[in-house]
Amino acid sequence: MAALVDAARGAMAHAHAPYSGFAVGAAVLLTDGQIVTGANFENASYGLSLCAETVVLATVNSLGRLADVEAIAVAGGTQSAIVAPCGRCRQVMHEAQEIAGRHLPVYCAAASGDAMTEYSVAALLPRAFGPADLGVTRKKKS
Ligand code: THU
Repeated sequence: MAALVDAARGAMAHAHAPYSGFAVGAAVLLTDGQIVTGANFENASYGLSLCAETVVLATVNSLGRLADVEAIAVAGGTQSAIVAPCGRCRQVMHEAQEIAGRHLPVYCAAASGDAMTEYSVAALLPRAFGPADLGVTRKKKS
């Protein structure tokens, strides 16, 4: 999914990451082909920083399009290694997958280069806590 990874890389330009210097971009592909992007948004308090994946999925939610999510890409960092989503982002991805009602591939890449690994959300977060654990059965938005 080269185009989606390219979009994630493009979003790195909008990262607000003056504290870590670790710019990350994320991109979400919707069922109609639209791509929505986001970047990490750090905070002087450090702990309140938002990751690119959470930012982009919150944006997709704000657009009313969570049910249409088809794939997620994340790229960035300062090394040649791919970016691995943090724990909170994995949980947020799981929620998006539950709402979308389809398995979401997650493409993880570095800021540049060919290294890219595709993961399933389930591989990133096995036995996830989700809506069913709260007795919520109708997750998909109409
Ligand atoms: N970060 C992301 O945006 N996504 C990831 O998958 C890993 C980490 C951000 C958070 C923080 O702004 C910076 O990268 C360093 O941790």
